[in-house]
Amino acid sequence: MKKEIITTVFEYSIDSPELSSEDKALISRAIEITKNSYSPYSNFSVGAALLLENGEVVVGSNQENAAYPSGLCAERVALFYANSQFPQSAVQTIAIAAKTKQSLIAKPVPPCGACRQVMLETEMRFQKPIKIILISKTNIQIIESAKQLLPLNFEKEMLE
Ligand code: THU
Repeated sequence: MKKEIITTVFEYSIDSPELSSEDKALISRAIEITKNSYSPYSNFSVGAALLLENGEVVVGSNQENAAYPSGLCAERVALFYANSQFPQSAVQTIAIAAKTKQSLIAKPVPPCGACRQVMLETEMRFQKPIKIILISKTNIQIIESAKQLLPLNFEKEMLE
């Protein structure tokens, strides 16, 4: 039996009137927070902005280290901070931007596998899909849930 797994990506131009003002505001926060990236090794500055169900916006940027694996991606910095500060509040949306040499990258940055796993855990914990907004210089991609980005995932039921 063949089973196909399909991910749906909605694509918009960065100035599309179809984007909601809420999403546009989060996109701006994600772009803005790339400036706090500590990335002297990769020179790749990533920013993530989360909108929580309680209306709070939590931001994060990638933080690198001379011992490379000790660093952390922007998405997980923001998600862990949100889960620490507001453990009762579901994450509604995450917007992610990345810059090289001060300029937004040409293609939206797809989150790494570990960040997808953490997004999915957060999504499952609150039983609410997280909308994922990926940002590039010219385009916005929207994926409607973390599950779509990580099919065939490992999850807590497997530990029981
Ligand atoms: N990075 C992120 O922060 N998020 C991603 O989705 C991809 C990669 C960071 C990790 C590292 O600091 C740098 O970008 C280069 O991999």
